[in-house]
Amino acid sequence: MSGRLEGKVALVTGGSRGIGRAICARLAGDGAAVVVNFARKQDAAADVVAQIEAAGGRALAVGADVSDRAAVNRMVGAAVREYGRIDILVNNAGILARGTALEFDEVIFDRMMAVNVKGIVHTVQAVAPGMAARRYGRIVNISSLAGLGTAVANTTPYALTKAAVINLTKRQAFELGHDGITVNAICPGFIATEMLASLEPHDQEEQLRALASKAVLNRVGDPDDIARVVLFLASDDASFVTGQALAVDGGRMDFLTGSA
Ligand SMILES: NC(=O)c1ccc[n+]([C@@H]2O[C@H](COP(=O)([O-])OP(=O)(O)OC[C@H]3O[C@@H](n4cnc5c(N)ncnc54)[C@H](OP(=O)(O)O)[C@@H]3O)[C@@H](O)[C@H]2O)c1
Repeated sequence: MSGRLEGKVALVTGGSRGIGRAICARLAGDGAAVVVNFARKQDAAADVVAQIEAAGGRALAVGADVSDRAAVNRMVGAAVREYGRIDILVNNAGILARGTALEFDEVIFDRMMAVNVKGIVHTVQAVAPGMAARRYGRIVNISSLAGLGTAVANTTPYALTKAAVINLTKRQAFELGHDGITVNAICPGFIATEMLASLEPHDQEEQLRALASKAVLNRVGDPDDIARVVLFLASDDASFVTGQALAVDGGRMDFLTGSA
């Protein structure tokens, strides 16, 4: 394989399913060796690895719950033993649970913070020192349009964690830029994955139509719509882009603030 990421090594958290799976395929398709992280679904991660290898690429599945700092350190150690270093880190792993400002389950909120926010702190702390030593790194954090303030019911605690990801991205960009590392966030709109299905478990067809109508482009996104933008931010085409939160959402019209 040859491409823009030839010779690079990428780690994708939550690479076993949904958006992460598409990201792994895109990065590998452009030449990167890919470490496919999963939390529980080892078979799904093995399937991603098999698909990449069948296409002539290199990949390795490594399990780790990103909320567990020791597990993240072990994962990064395994990746570096296999491929020598990590050049690209995509923090995609995330969970969504329902909640409102008034019905706000603290245990669930703490778990979402641990995975969606602390997970990114753990991986960046484990990976960035090696990037800094080589003065090269690309970090892409997957936030959400929820973090920018969309009016989707029952997602307040989740939206808080995703807003924190945007701020964390800017802080990491500020602190790591001097070491040649760019850090950007992507804020996906509605993307057809198991996570989206879990948000509206009933009458999926009808729900998908309703969600599609919230975007100017009048469709729900495909995981590859996000993966192609990750590929851009991970490549040298984006070498002068850092500290940004980029909405990839088909033009959503339901913002709480702004001109909608
Ligand atoms: N789908 C959307 O509409 C949408 C919109 C905006 C933002 N996002 C964000 O995009 C990212 C991916 O979402 P998705 O829709 O693809 O979700 P998904 O289909 O539910 O897949 C989630 C992935 O994250 C992994 N994961 C979950 N908890 C983990 C943990 N503690 N440690 C490591 N990996 C973990 C899962 O691994 P296992 O396979 O092992 O369970 C799986 O690979 C998330 O950050 C999500 O918040 C999604």
